[in-house]
Amino acid sequence: MSDNLAHVNIEEKNLERTSPARKVYVETYGCQMNLADTEIVLGIMNKSGYAPTQAIDEADVVLLNTCSVREHAEDKIHQRLGTIRKQMSRRPDLVVGVLGCMAERLRSNLIERHQVDIVVGPDEYRKLPELLDGAISGERGIGVRLSRTETYDDITPFRSEGVSAWISVMRGCDKFCTFCIVPFTRGRERSRTLSGVVGEVERLVGEGFREVTLLGQNVNSYLDEGRDFADLLSAVAKVDRSLRVRFTTSHPQDLSDKLIDTIAQHDNLCKYIHLPVQSGSDRVLKAMNRTYSREHYLALVGRIRSRMPGVALSTDIIAGFPTETDEEHSETLSLMEEVKYDGAYMFKYSPREGTPAFKLGDDVPEDVKAARLNEIIALQQRVSNETNQSLVGTIAEVMVDGKSKRSELQMSGRTDTNKTVIFTAGSLRPGELVKVRIKRASSATLFGELAGASN
Ligand code: 5AD
Ligand code: SF4
Repeated sequence: MSDNLAHVNIEEKNLERTSPARKVYVETYGCQMNLADTEIVLGIMNKSGYAPTQAIDEADVVLLNTCSVREHAEDKIHQRLGTIRKQMSRRPDLVVGVLGCMAERLRSNLIERHQVDIVVGPDEYRKLPELLDGAISGERGIGVRLSRTETYDDITPFRSEGVSAWISVMRGCDKFCTFCIVPFTRGRERSRTLSGVVGEVERLVGEGFREVTLLGQNVNSYLDEGRDFADLLSAVAKVDRSLRVRFTTSHPQDLSDKLIDTIAQHDNLCKYIHLPVQSGSDRVLKAMNRTYSREHYLALVGRIRSRMPGVALSTDIIAGFPTETDEEHSETLSLMEEVKYDGAYMFKYSPREGTPAFKLGDDVPEDVKAARLNEIIALQQRVSNETNQSLVGTIAEVMVDGKSKRSELQMSGRTDTNKTVIFTAGSLRPGELVKVRIKRASSATLFGELAGASN
């Protein structure tokens, strides 16, 4: 292993000496998995002599890592590709590529529509250097095969400096929710090795990272030789007791009592669970193929809260799934009222060609969908505001992210439950843990002042 590493270093040094590094610029859209994938892509490209740049004008290669989950996400990319193509007319040597879910879904259509040079889906990133070599000599390239085994377990992601790191632990999704394109663009579920993930966490701790988020479309179905996600979480928690450990996303069907106990047992496993419900109506949940009922979901929330009082929960909600009635929409509102989520990601249903729900049509009129979404958002804002007001006067343990964007004199950080806190303090280092007295709150943010350092 160490021999191998030495070998890589020598190769990289030689590369630096013999040729100036070509520069790659990546824009990332969509979910956190895509952010983690971009770091894997940069890891692969860096090894073959590319240096990342933050400035598109300096780049030899421009890559967009894309999202297909809703039409709006794809529209944005089409627009962006149009703009880049205009710029390309001044830079005929610039190589432009599309990565991620849209690459997988639209394949050669992207070449026809936008004349991009390469199109590479989520399981073919190892081919990037080869495809880019081809593109430099004028060959357009496509790599969109999905794999049952690719996890990039051995790739060292190229991370920008910071205190918080994403680590993808499993890829793909086998749930086939009827509205969702992800099982088609990211393929079947597969997990990285437990030793690979733990090794990566150890390295990150050595490099000074203070928080890791374990990622997967459905982390609860993680499995490596009989070791499940709860086993992975305890192993990661033990690496460093002061490292904050988060994870996302959990599917309600697979969130076991063993997992709840594990989160409760370890102080450094953050007490925050993203647990998408999508709808509060049993009939709609069935049509969505979510495989749980409202009752089952509420019972699960009850078990989580009784084992971990104070745990924060967030969710995803879809408004206007095909055939959803006003009454069924009200059931979603009543479920939200009952659970009192700390936060929610709320969307209008967007038909995705190729998914089972697409065949149902898109029969909830746009204005009805919009009105339902507005009601959902307003309810969530009220609930978040009430929850946050109840924290005024308490003292929260906050990990510092950095200076607040709004004011140089204030710092920004997050609680264990993932709430953003803006607070008055002298200059603190990112990653420091401090106690903050909460003085006021809005639906999105807590505001306070430094009450002392954490032990
Ligand atoms: N329309 C609207 N929202 C969707 N999501 C997934 N597919 C669709 C779609 N077709 C939402 C779900 C999921 C989140 C990541 O995106 O709520 O949990
Ligand atoms: Fe899509 Fe459902 Fe899989 Fe989430 S669990 S990625 S919503 S199919």
